[in-house]
Amino acid sequence: MRKPFIMGNWKMFKTTKEAVAFAEEFKKLYQSSDVVAGVCAPFTQLAALKDAFKGTDIKVGAQNMHFEENGAFTGEISADMLNELGIEYCVIGHSERRQYFNETDETVNKKLHTAFKHNIIPILCVGEVLEERDAGKEFDVVKTQTVGALKDLIAEQVSALIIAYEPVWAIGTGRTASPEQANEMCGYIRTVIEELYSDEVSEKVIIQYGGSVKPANASELMNMEEIDGALVGGASLVPADFIEIVNF
Ligand code: G3H
Repeated sequence: MRKPFIMGNWKMFKTTKEAVAFAEEFKKLYQSSDVVAGVCAPFTQLAALKDAFKGTDIKVGAQNMHFEENGAFTGEISADMLNELGIEYCVIGHSERRQYFNETDETVNKKLHTAFKHNIIPILCVGEVLEERDAGKEFDVVKTQTVGALKDLIAEQVSALIIAYEPVWAIGTGRTASPEQANEMCGYIRTVIEELYSDEVSEKVIIQYGGSVKPANASELMNMEEIDGALVGGASLVPADFIEIVNF
């Protein structure tokens, strides 16, 4: 019932020319299936990617947005601006934004409210750093992030949400969480949603794993019961690699 959802997160990679070249190559390899697939790209590439993927069911998402409707926020992008381009998804609260750009559970929560108001589906990222896992605090950390992010959201919104569990120690490190570790935390997040909302809501929310997902480990991770897909960084930059993950 929950369709696997595999999204690339290109971070700060590719010019628009390179993004369009990726799209042309990826379209040749891609076959529509029960897996929802797409890429979250830098702002400058979004319009060109929407155009390049027109007529396919390949999704295009952003990687961040501001929570205010508009205003004097130099360098920021609003939900209206994403709406204008027809962007359906936005990564919110990625650990790199929490670490380098002072994102907090409070700003993440505000962004989720604004995204839903504008019919943009958030891909909410949560995950612990290595010291937290080593100290046995990973469940507490992920629960706090999840509860903080969802504050005052209604059940209908949370039912449509995508959550990406990304242990920070597995991002870009080549050190993947084991399928069992990833599955355990994705299942735990589902129980947190159940406690906050209901069994029905928790069964609807898509929970992805992210962190060094590659063609070689995608199938094992994606076949775990609680893992509904992946948020893929480095391996989403190359069409031949990303299509292997999408076709896990
Ligand atoms: O959003 C994606 C994650 O940060 C994972 O990145 O696949 O390069 O480890 P990675």
